[in-house]
Amino acid sequence: MTRVGIIGATGYAGVELVRILHGHPHVTLSTITSRQYAGTAISAVFPSLTGVVDIQCEAFSPDETCERADVLFTALPHHVSMAIVPELVRRGRRVIDLSADFRFRNVNLYEAHYQPHSARELSEQAVYGLSEVFTEAIRSADLVGNPGCYPTSVLLPLIPLVSAGMLDPGSLIADAKSGVSGAGRSPALTSLYCEVAESFKAYKIGVHRHNPEMNEVLSAVAGRPLSITFVPHLVPLSRGMLTTIYASPCAPVTEEEIRDVLARYYEGRPFIRLRPTGGPPNTLHVRGTNYCDIGCKVDAGSGRIILISAIDNLVKGAAGQAVQNMNLMLGLPEDCGLNGVPFAL
Ligand SMILES: NC(=O)c1ccc[n+]([C@@H]2O[C@H](COP(=O)([O-])OP(=O)(O)OC[C@H]3O[C@@H](n4cnc5c(N)ncnc54)[C@H](OP(=O)(O)O)[C@@H]3O)[C@@H](O)[C@H]2O)c1
Repeated sequence: MTRVGIIGATGYAGVELVRILHGHPHVTLSTITSRQYAGTAISAVFPSLTGVVDIQCEAFSPDETCERADVLFTALPHHVSMAIVPELVRRGRRVIDLSADFRFRNVNLYEAHYQPHSARELSEQAVYGLSEVFTEAIRSADLVGNPGCYPTSVLLPLIPLVSAGMLDPGSLIADAKSGVSGAGRSPALTSLYCEVAESFKAYKIGVHRHNPEMNEVLSAVAGRPLSITFVPHLVPLSRGMLTTIYASPCAPVTEEEIRDVLARYYEGRPFIRLRPTGGPPNTLHVRGTNYCDIGCKVDAGSGRIILISAIDNLVKGAAGQAVQNMNLMLGLPEDCGLNGVPFAL
């Protein structure tokens, strides 16, 4: 049994890690940390865990946390991770960080959109944790920068077509909708029930920080600078993310050909489900799961390709993909602990 710990276990991504890791057959959840709830049982913070997960939250201490766990998940706000992770790696712990602090290979890009980076070298060495794409590098990584939820939902449908050189590079547009848990558990005016219920809005148009993350990965895959127009929206769901992508093909293409490219790229990968023709992805079908459902269509009039993906932002978009990465790092089957039967509704 590998001993694992979660730093920042009382946030939405952290408690999702608690849920998944507690049921994982090859790891023991040996330590969880929180500042506000140190000394409190996690089940007192999240009553759904009563009688199921009894572990107590502790204050983070590099000595004690590293003493108790071999693999650590950091589910902390951006800039907090970069202050903590270098010490964990220096002590020989393997780390999966869920913040943006270790997602960028070009640290200047991170600094242009977030803040100055205090662990630049480590950031350049980290592996981007898009499990199905950077699989081999993840297996041997000491530090994985887990992708953002929006980038996961945009990159998984697009990368097979971009790497096959099928798309006009200037034509990429992504229109994405996220549930409110994407904003985290800290109280905020914009997350209040009255602000969100019966409401549907676009936000951070053209300036969302996940846009440069997508561009960096798409450019690396394409082998040339590539930029996607990205518009995020907030919808009144607690969890779930639906993304619609529009792209013009370099040459006319059929729906079957697109499906073939996607099916070949993701052959044998358990969490990518290609939806049958006419059955577009739906956040309901992936709720609480690590699946990314992908559908495609060619618009007969314009010839434009339409790709749709659905993920659960807290699972494939955060904690689930982090555990999938841990499985790859530990040489376990990638679906270990993640293969529960989805809810039908
Ligand atoms: N929510 C999502 O859908 C999602 C998806 C992908 C990635 N992520 C990323 O995952 C990370 C966590 O997100 P979240 O949504 O779970 O956030 P959250 O709900 O706000 O939780 C943040 C966690 O970090 C702890 N924390 C906050 N400030 C801290 C500090 N200064 N020092 C130490 N611990 C601190 C909090 O507990 P205490 O205050 O008690 O310490 C809490 O456990 C973020 O970087 C986020 O961008 C989130």
